[in-house]
Amino acid sequence: MLRVCGIFALFSLCLLFLAPPCSGGNILVFPVDGSHWINMRIILEELHARGHNITVIRASSSWYIKEKSPLYSSITLEKEEAIEDFFDAFIKEQIKVQREGASLSSFFRLNKDFLSMITHAHVLWCNATKDVFENESLVKQIFDSKYDLILTDPAMSAGLVLAKYFNLPVVLNVRWITSGEGHFVLAPSPLSYIPVPGSGLTDRMNFIQRLKNIFFLGIIKFQQWVMVGPIYDEFCSKYIKGGCDIVSLLQQADIWLFRSDFVFDFPRPTMPNMVYIGGFQCKPAEPLPADLEKFVQSSGKHGVIIMTLGTLVNALPKDVADEIATVFSKMPQKVIWRHKGDHPSTLGNNTLIVDWMPQKDLLGHPQVKVFVAHGGTNGVQEAIYHGVPVLGIPLFFDQYDNLLRLQERGAGKIIQLSDFSGHTFEEGLKDLLHDSSYRQNIQRLSRLHKDKPMSPMDQAIFWIEYVIRHKGARHLISEAYKMPWYSYHSLDVLLLLLAVLMVLLYSIYAVFRFLCCRRKRKTKTKQN
Ligand SMILES: *[C@@H]1O[C@H](CO)[C@@H](O)[C@H](O)[C@H]1NC(C)=O
Ligand SMILES: *[C@@H]1O[C@H](CO)[C@@H](O)[C@H](O)[C@H]1NC(C)=O
Ligand SMILES: *[C@@H]1O[C@H](CO)[C@@H](O)[C@H](O)[C@H]1NC(C)=O
Ligand SMILES: *[C@@H]1O[C@H](CO)[C@@H](O)[C@H](O)[C@H]1NC(C)=O
Repeated sequence: MLRVCGIFALFSLCLLFLAPPCSGGNILVFPVDGSHWINMRIILEELHARGHNITVIRASSSWYIKEKSPLYSSITLEKEEAIEDFFDAFIKEQIKVQREGASLSSFFRLNKDFLSMITHAHVLWCNATKDVFENESLVKQIFDSKYDLILTDPAMSAGLVLAKYFNLPVVLNVRWITSGEGHFVLAPSPLSYIPVPGSGLTDRMNFIQRLKNIFFLGIIKFQQWVMVGPIYDEFCSKYIKGGCDIVSLLQQADIWLFRSDFVFDFPRPTMPNMVYIGGFQCKPAEPLPADLEKFVQSSGKHGVIIMTLGTLVNALPKDVADEIATVFSKMPQKVIWRHKGDHPSTLGNNTLIVDWMPQKDLLGHPQVKVFVAHGGTNGVQEAIYHGVPVLGIPLFFDQYDNLLRLQERGAGKIIQLSDFSGHTFEEGLKDLLHDSSYRQNIQRLSRLHKDKPMSPMDQAIFWIEYVIRHKGARHLISEAYKMPWYSYHSLDVLLLLLAVLMVLLYSIYAVFRFLCCRRKRKTKTKQN
């Protein structure tokens, strides 16, 4: 019996080594740096574990993307300026303007800063990507590598132009595109119940709010048509025969791995090639390091509050940090606070300041009662996964909208920087700690999020391998990308029907007029 097993084991071992590497695809990755890369890297780890060969295109000035990694080989593009060079200043300005309070002029300043920063980033990336096309040996190397697909994050869309040039199938790891949110260029998006990101609206809007929603779509269209579109048009016309249009390149992508789902976002129409992988980065909690566990346990029945404002914010204004520290020092809970920069002078002895914390392991710890966060997608998804209510302090980008989705479902609360004070912060914390409905609501979201036939990560990998197996997913792409806008909305047909109707109405009118006049003329002749 033992021998049979032995032989069998040997046989399977042989099979393992002899099996052709059929699952091993050759994948070219064009990522976006910063928190987007943290997301992308998690997918790459999984792809690597399943035996795929990965090549990452990175910039020499990259922030997080290392040149050498056991996960991937890399192609490095020369890029003088890193995004962090202007990002820090951008964030400081955003925080400053928001604290001055909400007004029309601050709104325009915030949007102007945002648009010019984003536009600058697109220019830098297109400029760096030119080096691929200009370098014959690199072009040959990419052609010779026979990649099965390109996996890219279209927040910076130069990867799509590469895909077009090398004629590769495209899988997007996406939520944000060159302008706004991905759904708006792919799926029907009635503005009556789908809030435009940035508008701070929900799926229930009154008349004025629907007006506001259209105004925000105007900002996004302005960004696309006036600011970002021309950069790519120029880039395309130089390297792609016949030119290309970045929106239709997006619409032709084979699979959209969308970093959201309908536990998090409001229900809306979607498309057959959209796969929702929201929460794919979430994993069950692991035990905490011993000293942290001891600190957490010392909180007793009161529990622990954890706070982080993300990877990008290095310096909270000093007075805000002091205010937060004062409030924390008054709470009976223990606090773990990820904070860079000088320690606040008002720090209480219940507060532990750390440079880094094992966020998911803490969120999964039963002692953790409240998560104070800035509302980045990662943090919000992890809070949902682990079922911890969120006190949100949104700083920029999509953070307010992310947190709004929790607040709407009674699973969190938002404090805007313009309203921030020790008093509002303390009220918010106490509300979340003492009103059990917040916890019940977010735990319900957590159960809904986990109740799926397939985990979001398995979905992502399945669809990437699907594209490798079938050399694309052409049959899932709608024909909409070929249509001009007036055909897409059938305006040409409507115009024709309207014209026919007009002619018909006019003919009827003419016939009646003719009959009437004749009768009049007859009576006139009789009278005569
Ligand atoms: C584009 O890149 C070249 C070098 O590759 C550099 O000299 C030039 O300044 C860059 N242009 C912009 C607008 O960044
Ligand atoms: C062209 O690409 C190759 C291969 O990646 C690289 O070694 C070389 O330095 C590049 N040449 C230029 C001029 O950038
Ligand atoms: C993986 O990709 C690199 C770069 O294209 C290539 O040199 C290498 O041979 C590939 N390995 C396999 C096993 O396909
Ligand atoms: C922490 O500070 C409070 C008052 O601020 C004090 O009552 C308490 O004893 C201190 N605890 C420790 C362990 O030092």
